[in-house]
Amino acid sequence: MLIKEKSTILSSEITDKAIFLNRRKIIKAAAGLSITSLLPNTATAEKAKKYAQVPSGPYSANLQVTSIEDATNYTNYYEFSTNKKDSTILARPLKTSPWTITIEGEAEKTGEFNLEDILKNNPLEERIYRFRCVEAWSMVVPWIGFPLGAMLQQFKPTAKAKFAEFTTLYNPEVMIGQRGKSLDWPYVEALRIDEAMHPLAFIATGMYDEDLPKQNGAPLRLVVPWKYGFKSIKAIVKIRFSETMPATAWNKMAAGEYGFYANVNPHVPHPRWSQSRERILGASIFTPKRKTELFNGYGEQVASLYTGMDLKKHF
Ligand code: MTE
Repeated sequence: MLIKEKSTILSSEITDKAIFLNRRKIIKAAAGLSITSLLPNTATAEKAKKYAQVPSGPYSANLQVTSIEDATNYTNYYEFSTNKKDSTILARPLKTSPWTITIEGEAEKTGEFNLEDILKNNPLEERIYRFRCVEAWSMVVPWIGFPLGAMLQQFKPTAKAKFAEFTTLYNPEVMIGQRGKSLDWPYVEALRIDEAMHPLAFIATGMYDEDLPKQNGAPLRLVVPWKYGFKSIKAIVKIRFSETMPATAWNKMAAGEYGFYANVNPHVPHPRWSQSRERILGASIFTPKRKTELFNGYGEQVASLYTGMDLKKHF
């Protein structure tokens, strides 16, 4: 095949091509094809097609992937706003590169690490997970990232490390929600070390084949698919290995409403609402609510972590 060098292509030829493509668009439109097939960016169209299919596999439970518009414009990010629609715009000024993560506590390798270096040691993969918010809505998201446990092992936690505690950036100048008292800042979440090492626990740096949007927790966040969404802390700047159970932001705020474990459990109602059903994000108001599953449907993989525990007490 003869490939023309850039400089030998005449501008008139480029114009011709544009007219040709435009004509093709018009013909396609006339043929009644969907709007996505007319998108100029073929990658976008490919992606829309990829996620339009109901994914099968160990994590997705054959549910439709939530639209990228819904997953990125209906977010919980109290550092910016308690309104689910506002963080898309309010998070824009947040600088997410360069980014460092401080490792503290019961580990052999502690100190400050560049996210770039962490990324070099942790190859990215895609995981399509169900995600259940404590506020009784759910979605299915294709996350890009790597297993949390593999990353934690690189810091060589000692035998005394019984919990992993995660902290979000504190920067009230940019994170304007931190100027108020909706939570005791900074946002802190934690997992028991065996939960953190479980192969399903994931660090996301992207979603829908793109970098993670700021409102969804860029540059990196936790995703713990068998627990209510508030465990999945965003914009992590610190990880501390500890011997004792850390105090977490939501638990400190209302221990009777937000337990440390926060496992998805249809049999334990939130004091102010039932957890037996969930609204599927983006579904029409006529779509019946979905039955909530114990451990968000991941019981086969994670139930053994809680053998012998009374999950009504340790909710
Ligand atoms: N992390 C931080 N730092 N701040 C938050 O307000 N909200 C949590 C969790 N992580 C939150 C957070 C809650 S309540 C939920 S449901 C999920 O993020 C929502 O994730 P999403 O906005 O990407 O859907």
